[in-house]
Amino acid sequence: MRYPVHMEQSLPDPNVAFGDHRCPGPSYRDLVLRDETGVPAQMLESEYRYRGSEPIGYHRYTSKEFAELEFEKVFMRAWQWACREEHIPNEGDYHVYDVGQRSIILVRDPQGKIRAFNNFCLHRGTQLKPSGDQGNANRFTCPYHGWAWSTTGKIASLPCRWDFPHLSDDDLEMPEIQVDTWGGFVFVNFDPTAGPLRDYLGVLPEHFQGAWDLSKRYVELHIKKRLPCNWKAGMAAFLEAYHVYKTHPQGLRATGDANAQYDVFGEHISRFMHTSGTQSPHIANQQTEQEILDFLLGRKFSPGMETPKIPEGKTARDVYAQLSKVQLGEKYGADYSDFKVADTVDSIEYFVFPNGFFFPGARIPLTYRFLPNPDNPDECTFDLLFLRPHPADGNIPAPAKVCHLDFKDSYASAPGMDPGLGGVFDQDTDNLAAQTRGFKGSMRTAETLGNYQEIRTRHLHETIDKYMARP
Ligand code: FES
Ligand SMILES: [Fe+2]
Repeated sequence: MRYPVHMEQSLPDPNVAFGDHRCPGPSYRDLVLRDETGVPAQMLESEYRYRGSEPIGYHRYTSKEFAELEFEKVFMRAWQWACREEHIPNEGDYHVYDVGQRSIILVRDPQGKIRAFNNFCLHRGTQLKPSGDQGNANRFTCPYHGWAWSTTGKIASLPCRWDFPHLSDDDLEMPEIQVDTWGGFVFVNFDPTAGPLRDYLGVLPEHFQGAWDLSKRYVELHIKKRLPCNWKAGMAAFLEAYHVYKTHPQGLRATGDANAQYDVFGEHISRFMHTSGTQSPHIANQQTEQEILDFLLGRKFSPGMETPKIPEGKTARDVYAQLSKVQLGEKYGADYSDFKVADTVDSIEYFVFPNGFFFPGARIPLTYRFLPNPDNPDECTFDLLFLRPHPADGNIPAPAKVCHLDFKDSYASAPGMDPGLGGVFDQDTDNLAAQTRGFKGSMRTAETLGNYQEIRTRHLHETIDKYMARP
């Protein structure tokens, strides 16, 4: 396969309409169609349309007023994932989810149903369970005067009940929030009139089947890190592969960055997919398949390992995927046989509005969540999880405890984090404080976006606008 000259020299063709320009190298689809295993059908779908080239105002990232309105109009109305079902497997298990100033208790009731309750006392407002808490309880008791609620939200204890003749038991029922599940994730929606989660998720349930079924995975690692940026700026750093060339140059010999595919599926879902095991179109020198494989294995496998020779008719990706499936299968005791080449090795990232990211791939099985800081639009919290397939022997490990990292802490310092990958995440988030500085200090007041590679960021803002415009 021939690659073009160095991409920095590639200019847009003036005869092509806005939105139709693409990297002059092979497309993601071209690349995966060469895989020996074939490609999962959903990966051959594509859904892009030009959505304009208007700049995006920086006030959307920096303004406190904007952040407050956004919280009310978006976070109080959109479905968002709060925890995993395995965080609360048994009756009475609970998990506290905080978003903005809100806090809710997710609990498994005696019927096995997951319910979500306001985590604040109906007497004088005291928070019932601390933020970040989880455990098991048959009632939630306020630490101040001892009012308590059952796991079904009924008032269970009220000391000196005689002094509250003006309140009925109905008045004392704990407000409940809509809950539903998908892929082992527990989603909540603060809006009692919100439509069903399944409709909200669009193509997601259909795409995440078989090997991609996230309900058959467990949380291997969970990092929660503070980031010095608005939650949308943090997300935007992960919505495109355009930055890979400059921010993560170490992997370019085996990363199809500029030929990534970007899709927008309806109002809430977008996706990118980029290859591992093909060279970046930014690299002018054509490598052999064997050189690409050697590079990949040198980086990802043990240093002493002998590099296999690529058999006739196969590619670096084919061999890399095969080896990966064996390696992952041994490490996690799980069956990876349903994965094809592309979903074994590639970076496949689905975004679910407003703040969830889900990666079905075997080598890159991530989940992200970005939460706004209610007091400061220049800060957010980033949850980073690794989900691994359930082991075949049925001994499913308990979900990992959360590892908290502050602004300056390296991801690599989290126990269990691969140091190389930790370094990649550090590279991603190193840019964010500088960008936030620019949002405030630049003589320009808006950012400009690539029409194709940054379409998901544009789509994010578009959907926010739709939510903000609703009465
Ligand atoms: S504030 Fe909770 S019991 Fe008084
Ligand atoms: Fe990155």
